[in-house]
Amino acid sequence: MDVTTERSAFREDLLRGKTAIVTGASRGIGAAIAHRLCEAGANVVICSRSADAVGEVANTLAAKGYTIHAIAADISQKADVESLIEETTAQFSQIDILVNNAGITRDMLLMRLKDEDWHAVLQTNLTGTMYCTRAVLRPMIRQKSGRIINISSVVGLAGNAGQVNYAAAKAGIIGLTKATAKEVGARGITVNAVAPGFITTDMTAQISEQHQKQLLEMIPLREFGHPEDVADAVCFLASDAARYITGQTLQVDGGMVM
Ligand code: NAI
Repeated sequence: MDVTTERSAFREDLLRGKTAIVTGASRGIGAAIAHRLCEAGANVVICSRSADAVGEVANTLAAKGYTIHAIAADISQKADVESLIEETTAQFSQIDILVNNAGITRDMLLMRLKDEDWHAVLQTNLTGTMYCTRAVLRPMIRQKSGRIINISSVVGLAGNAGQVNYAAAKAGIIGLTKATAKEVGARGITVNAVAPGFITTDMTAQISEQHQKQLLEMIPLREFGHPEDVADAVCFLASDAARYITGQTLQVDGGMVM
């Protein structure tokens, strides 16, 4: 049998009838995750700060026949997160999967790091992840099931010069993932993190060609990852195939950090 056909048939049923929220899905990894979850049969709600940008992704996926809904929400704002959850519940009556993907960078060496850039990165990447996670726990506990997947980074495991704020937030996400997994495991909810390495998106587009060459040499698979590589890992963790996995960090990095 053709491998591609077999693979897509497997995907079509993987999340049939489930409802998923993906934060920060107006482009890059978040948009690829939304696409993959749609392909797997889920109803998907996507958010980002810009209604236009996230609406465009939703229109493209809706045109392919998927059930997708776009909401403008800034996950660093508690009130926005609360309305995101309320609107999703009103639309689909339950929330089975939350993917905390939204993230920003404000890179600078620590000596010159501005307080506002420290706070902005922590507020979006870590506090925003906490707001969304806390808000979905009530409906997930009520239905005695749920999958929460937090997008961390290998930088949260290994550190990276010039990214103290980002590394601290991404390491914080791993701690948040483990602690939440311990709190809600008995309620049928799993909580895992995915730690991507170097993935080609807008976030990594500013990195100089020379630095990209150096990075390639650190990657055993000798290529940068694609947003779809991260999306596949998320889709697996969201599915029943990962029912006995919780509190883990799955690296999608071509072997960059071991
Ligand atoms: P990107 O910059 O291309 O996309 C980020 C998305 O998050 C955008 O849709 C943006 O609008 C949204 N966003 C940002 N702040 C938001 C907020 N406060 N509220 C709602 N939405 C918000 O980034 P990319 O590369 O797609 O990254 C996605 C996630 O993966 C991030 O958490 C990032 O830290 C992480 N990651 C990316 C890696 C890479 O190599 N690209 C490597 C490791 C982790």
